Amino acid sequence: MEQKMKALRAQMEEKLSRVDSREKLASFWQEFLGKKGAIAEMMKSLGGLSKEERPAMGKLINDLKVQAEERYKDCSERMEQMEMAARNRKEQVDITLPAKKRSTGNLHPITIVKNEMINVFLGMGFEVFEGPEIEDDDHNFTRLNVAKDHPARDMQDTFYIAEDILLRTHTSPGQIRVMDMEKPPIKVLVPGRVFRSDSDATHSPMFHQMEGLVVDKGITLCDLQGMLDRFVQQIFDADVKTRLRPSYFPFTEPSVEVDVSCFECGGKGCSLCKHTGWIEVLGGGVVHQQVLRNCGIDPEVYSGFAFGIGIERIAMLKYGINNMGLLFENDLRFLKQFKD
Ligand code: PHE
Repeated sequence: MEQKMKALRAQMEEKLSRVDSREKLASFWQEFLGKKGAIAEMMKSLGGLSKEERPAMGKLINDLKVQAEERYKDCSERMEQMEMAARNRKEQVDITLPAKKRSTGNLHPITIVKNEMINVFLGMGFEVFEGPEIEDDDHNFTRLNVAKDHPARDMQDTFYIAEDILLRTHTSPGQIRVMDMEKPPIKVLVPGRVFRSDSDATHSPMFHQMEGLVVDKGITLCDLQGMLDRFVQQIFDADVKTRLRPSYFPFTEPSVEVDVSCFECGGKGCSLCKHTGWIEVLGGGVVHQQVLRNCGIDPEVYSGFAFGIGIERIAMLKYGINNMGLLFENDLRFLKQFKD
């Protein structure tokens, strides 16, 4: 029996030395330590021994069993380490490799300038209102004092969708919508897209405007100029001032074109201001009494001013863009220049 055990121990060692996979380890367990394994068989054969021999032999077999179990555990741990090392090798990443560049988007220059303009006026206490792009004749013209047969309708080539339904030609209908909803004091901005049948280097059939409207007691043209001075100084980031020239709009009286002193040459004259020292930036005026009346506001008590700024115009001046088409072509080489 002792002989048998010796042989078994040698067999075990030999088998273990060749274990290099989980399957081989499992078959080692089955062969030696399993219910029908060699050690269990030996235990069974103890029955054939004499009473005196049994305890000593039983102990020896037990020792062998404990030893086999330990060897099995060691081998299993070694296996685990080997597997972990293999996995680490396989999943290794080179953290020194340069990362893949992901391109990020940026705001469109029109959006950038629009936001900047809104910010300047928010600082003066204005609120923002947005009206519809599809308007009716009433809001776009008639209630702004532009009757159906008024020659001023020719000033804005209009896209009609149906009889009396059109794409708004300016943001001024926003004035009517706001005055219908609110009573003075009113201080609103109406930014948005407008449409005219017009297209060349400085005109696009779709462009953006920002309307401003202030209505309260005692509002005058001076208030308009004061606020616009602040606006141009902040938007062009320069010590500039405005100049008002008489003009005509049916919905303001008096009406003005507003020029800004040239921020490029300081007013001395350069190519940007066409050697005049001044650049035209917007139109405005004192809200026509009839327009106030059309919205149920008493012109004997209240007065107001309004203005309309072309956002493309401000963006082109600010960034030195000479062709409006660039703003709508969506050429990334152009648009990426406005990343901040
Ligand atoms: N709506 C006018 C235009 O588009 C601009 C304007 C707005 C003029 C408000 C006066 C007052 O030309």
